[in-house]
Amino acid sequence: MTARFKSNSFNFEAMDTSKYILVTGGAGFIGSHTVVELIENGYIPVIVDDFRNSEESSVKGIEKITGTSISVRNTDVCDFSKLEKVFREFNFTGIIHFAAYKAVGESVQKPLNYYQNNLVGLLNVLQLATKYKVKNLVFSSSCTVYGEPKNTKVVTEESAIQPANSPYGNTKQIGEEIINDLVASGADIKILNLRYFNPVGAHSSALIGELPIGKPNNLIPAVTQTAIGKLEKITIFGNDYDTIDGTCVRDYIHVVDVANAHVSGIKWLEQQENSLVENINIGTGKGTSVLEIIHTFEEVSGEKLNWEFGPRREGDVVEIFADVSKSKRILNWEAKKTVKESVKDAWNWEKKELKH
Ligand code: UD1
Repeated sequence: MTARFKSNSFNFEAMDTSKYILVTGGAGFIGSHTVVELIENGYIPVIVDDFRNSEESSVKGIEKITGTSISVRNTDVCDFSKLEKVFREFNFTGIIHFAAYKAVGESVQKPLNYYQNNLVGLLNVLQLATKYKVKNLVFSSSCTVYGEPKNTKVVTEESAIQPANSPYGNTKQIGEEIINDLVASGADIKILNLRYFNPVGAHSSALIGELPIGKPNNLIPAVTQTAIGKLEKITIFGNDYDTIDGTCVRDYIHVVDVANAHVSGIKWLEQQENSLVENINIGTGKGTSVLEIIHTFEEVSGEKLNWEFGPRREGDVVEIFADVSKSKRILNWEAKKTVKESVKDAWNWEKKELKH
């Protein structure tokens, strides 16, 4: 199989193009790390990203880490005809669809933006995947679909889906429903919904990492930005929960582990013959409290963090972590890195980022 065009950076006609993977949102946090792991596993990722929530410097970082030049198309996934051009250009064997908004609080303020961007983007990707017969697709879902788990802290893929507590969470639930309906209709496509827990950390090279826009909502960037002086202090949202130390508990997973889960997912999909949809938790199986994260940060960085207890944040789940048996059984994948490594890599990235 040969590609239908020649680019400046590759002689595609000389290459086996059976390994092209479309990565929407490939310049973003999880996307950029996934692109690195795809390359290291012999795939040829093509990034579609319009850089509204990411920076071109992350593509340079990927190129530096892998020594490979990357095909990037500056395209909004909501623009059907522009996206279709990319499908005509490459014979994709798989798609990983990351491109979406993800800030819970912002989604409450601007629900229509979230429904528009997250759902139209997904619909366009699914329409084009079926039209161009791309049979392997990984969808970025989230543990947010479980809401506040009832009578348990550890959730399996069979745990009840609770009503979403934000428009963002609802876009993930509706996204999974759209996918279920598509597969039930008999479409010739295999889809994995990967339900991420809390992806954190950065590549160990510190060449790529998370680039929050404005004041970070998520815990780890708030920790590292406080330590470096971009923020004055960090507030721990609530210390009166019924948990080990009164603060909320989450399943923090290193972003490189998350990236590798996508490679395992694509490989597994390629081996399946019939249409299917599977939901799989991507976590470590271990819960860590907010205070434990703060203490781990102080230990690995040697920095004293300026933190305070504040009121609970509205909509926060008290305690949730993943049952990871399905990811081990089906994908033969499990998280390898510890929370300490995640925090250390996030800190190295923050220090390096300051020098940009
Ligand atoms: C949320 C979503 C998750 C989504 C992610 C993307 C839920 C249940 N989870 O994760 O699906 O993928 O956002 O952004 O909707 N915290 C502080 N101080 C801070 C920041 C955070 O104490 O300055 C605490 C929070 O209260 C929470 C924990 O740290 O207990 C983790 O928060 P965060 O990093 O925002 O992630 P989630 O809310 O778990």
